[in-house]
Amino acid sequence: MQADIVVLPGDGIGPEVTAAAVEVLRAVGQRYGHDFRFEEKLIGGAAIDATGEALPADTLAAAQRADAVLLGAVGGPKWSDPKAPVRPEQGLLAIRKALGLYANLRPVKPHPAALGASPIKPHLLNGVDLMVVRELTGGIYFGQKQRTAGSDGNESASDLCEYSTAEIERVVRRACTLARTRRGRVTSVDKANVLETSRLWREVATRVVRDEFPDVQLEHQLVDSMAMHLLAKPREYDVIVTENMFGDILTDEASMLAGSLGLLPSASLGGGRVGLYEPIHGSAPDIAGRGIANPYATILSTALLLRHSLGLEDEARCVEKAVSGALDSGVFTADLAPGGRGASTRQATAAVLEQLQLECLPVVMRD
Ligand code: NAD
Ligand code: IPM
Ligand code: MN
Repeated sequence: MQADIVVLPGDGIGPEVTAAAVEVLRAVGQRYGHDFRFEEKLIGGAAIDATGEALPADTLAAAQRADAVLLGAVGGPKWSDPKAPVRPEQGLLAIRKALGLYANLRPVKPHPAALGASPIKPHLLNGVDLMVVRELTGGIYFGQKQRTAGSDGNESASDLCEYSTAEIERVVRRACTLARTRRGRVTSVDKANVLETSRLWREVATRVVRDEFPDVQLEHQLVDSMAMHLLAKPREYDVIVTENMFGDILTDEASMLAGSLGLLPSASLGGGRVGLYEPIHGSAPDIAGRGIANPYATILSTALLLRHSLGLEDEARCVEKAVSGALDSGVFTADLAPGGRGASTRQATAAVLEQLQLECLPVVMRD
């Protein structure tokens, strides 16, 4: 198959981890006889430096034309002045919104070989396999933002959190559809004891499941206690569906089940044709440029790209197996080997490429 993939390296470790992921995709293409074409574009701080905008029009146009988008990360201290007129993160929010990517899938499945990297006791981690479906184009991220100057110098600020029935319905449907392919359970997370948006969320989730997914088992959980249960009994959860900001926070927390932010991939999907794939971590300014970033999350994001955008399930599994193989053979970057000497980004990528040769069916054998 032929596929056009737009690559948005972004800032900090973004270029390091996307370069690794592109290498893996190229190898998969070669191995299975696919013609993957890559086009690199600017986003985030790098785009602000070059063009003054966080999401230049030609980046968005290329993404809209592409079969899939692979993104590294955006942001960093250079662009974080609170008074800055434009911020890298706006580019990311804008592309998610413009591509209609309302559902962000964040799978969390601790790898047996990396259990030691987690601060959670190993017996709690065995068998954990959950999928967070984070609403991605609504809520407090996208509501009206305002600053109001008080006469006495007491300035105030507000961010409006808004959700409509239709926005909740579509993401809950996505979560339920996924649950049917898994253990059939959905936990809807909200703060319905305080927030009106959460009360609407709970009402809509209850109705969608009752009317359209009677075979799915739904439970509601308040976000604060969810943050606790997620660490205390992570095995209990199958699909977790929640609003934008709760999903952002809970998934960074969930990364500690896997052992590192550097292990969690994501797929952002919507009603449209194009999906966007990115690790859940950020630009990691503290380690950027040192060649030590963990590339596994971005490599695992390419597996999601192969599966969800290109329909290449065998190839997706092969990438996942190759990362598992690299971990099984003890190739841990520094984030997974606290105190010890970690593998470099290069070494970890090389380990995945080596495993690909072992795991993936060569072209000749398939024909
Ligand atoms: P972060 O995810 O960048 O880093 C948090 C910690 O995890 C750091 O110690 C970092 O070194 C470590 N880490 C993250 N990814 C790693 C990897 N692949 N390998 C090894 N270690 C890794 O979060 P932050 O420090 O809060 O944010 C830094 C910047 O990134 C901010 O500007 C933020 O807005 C941005 N950000 C961007 C995205 C994105 O583009 N999707 C996501 C989150 C944060
Ligand atoms: C993420 C990030 C982004 C978010 C930021 C950088 C806008 O934290 O992708 O998880 O909050 O969505
Ligand atoms: Mn985040």
